[in-house]
Amino acid sequence: MSAESGLANASKENSLPNRSLRPGFPSGFLWGTATSAYQIEGAVNEDERGPSIWDRHAHKIGNILNNGNADVANDHFHLYKDDVQLMKALGAKAYRFSIAWPRVFPAGAGAPNPKGLDFYDRLLDELLASGIEPFATLYHWDLPLALQDRHGGWLSRETSEAFAHYAGHVAKRLSDRVKHFFTINECSRFVNLGHGHGSDAPGLKLSRAELNQVRHNVALGHGLAVRSIRTQGRAGTRVGPAENIVTCVPAIETPANIRAAEIATRELNAGYLTVMLEGKYTDAFLADAGKDAPQFTAEDLDIISSPIDFVGLNVYMPEHYVVAADNAQGFAPLPFPDSFPHMDSAWLKIGPEAMYWGPRHVAKLWDVKSIYITENGTSAADQPDTAGNVYDVDRIMYLRNYLTQLQRATSEGVPVLGYFLWSLMDNFEWTDGFEKRFGLYRVDFNTQRRTPKLSASFYREIIAQNAVV
Ligand code: NOJ
Repeated sequence: MSAESGLANASKENSLPNRSLRPGFPSGFLWGTATSAYQIEGAVNEDERGPSIWDRHAHKIGNILNNGNADVANDHFHLYKDDVQLMKALGAKAYRFSIAWPRVFPAGAGAPNPKGLDFYDRLLDELLASGIEPFATLYHWDLPLALQDRHGGWLSRETSEAFAHYAGHVAKRLSDRVKHFFTINECSRFVNLGHGHGSDAPGLKLSRAELNQVRHNVALGHGLAVRSIRTQGRAGTRVGPAENIVTCVPAIETPANIRAAEIATRELNAGYLTVMLEGKYTDAFLADAGKDAPQFTAEDLDIISSPIDFVGLNVYMPEHYVVAADNAQGFAPLPFPDSFPHMDSAWLKIGPEAMYWGPRHVAKLWDVKSIYITENGTSAADQPDTAGNVYDVDRIMYLRNYLTQLQRATSEGVPVLGYFLWSLMDNFEWTDGFEKRFGLYRVDFNTQRRTPKLSASFYREIIAQNAVV
């Protein structure tokens, strides 16, 4: 073949297949973006908002990279109308945001703040006017400080009960416009890093027994909130968790390894999603905890496993690659080599298969019929050029690979109904402050100017085609 005819063939090959032949998503698949209150709102002293554990944590020198805090963050409290327009420009049909508990109950419990939901009223009206469906998370880690100081926060079940009270109040007030509520975001992250490791708020290093009690009270808070949303929300209000499950990927896709990955995923989520869906702690979980197991009653387990309408999954990476093993547990997690690739955040390993196996395991293990990907996205060392353009081809590479695996799942019938990209815009990345950027829009935190990155165009195209592009 001559070089010329080769080129002619190449240009024919370059024309993309007809849209109906492309790896598409089911019709009606819901494309959205995600954020959380403390990471974007700012306005920490407005409308009688009370302090949260993150306000205190972020203001302690040394806790946050470059001593950032979220007093202003993206000033979304004032700029929300512009931010809804950013979503509209993507063609997004849904938005996952969180409600700040300390705005609604400044002291965590007691009387609600009469102004506490005003901001969310305005935001919801703006979203609905733009044809964007709101999905609200009730707890994205900003616990009212008063609950921490009064009785140790999640170490006490009074916090679980206060959470349910707050959840019911919000459902009563907002379920005319919000049809989907997520109870708690990523239980294991704030339990482990906030109460065991101490790097996240409230900055504690509890004993193993106390940590297990916190974990149990968090799961209990989820179940109590499900129940109060059912009684206080309008008929048809749907509720579920938004969990970052430990996803185990079969290292090689053989039937035996796939089974091992399922067993591992069930076992390694025993304290959260497994107990929420099965109403019991696994034998291995209790045996491993031994004398440090949490105090609980049979009624607690009934509450924790109150029926939910969907499971939300935050998917960033595989926790383990596993193989089948001839041992008591039936699986062996393999060590990660030092050369395993990661994105700009060192913890963010690149393992797109998690996006296939996570939802598939959840659907198969527990016969879950509705799943949302409540978060997926990546940090990148975005470098604006002289004109201010950000060509974040690494973020596009990451997203394309994860979405390809998601499409693999939906094409096999795994019931994933929607996907929320983290994040709409750069924001306060917890202990990484403003140093790690996850947004489709770049934010200049001095001017609050938002600029679309190349990945925003990529995502707009995905949404428009309802297919991986
Ligand atoms: C999960 C958390 O829910 C979110 O708050 C965080 O910013 C992202 N992961 C990225 O780390």
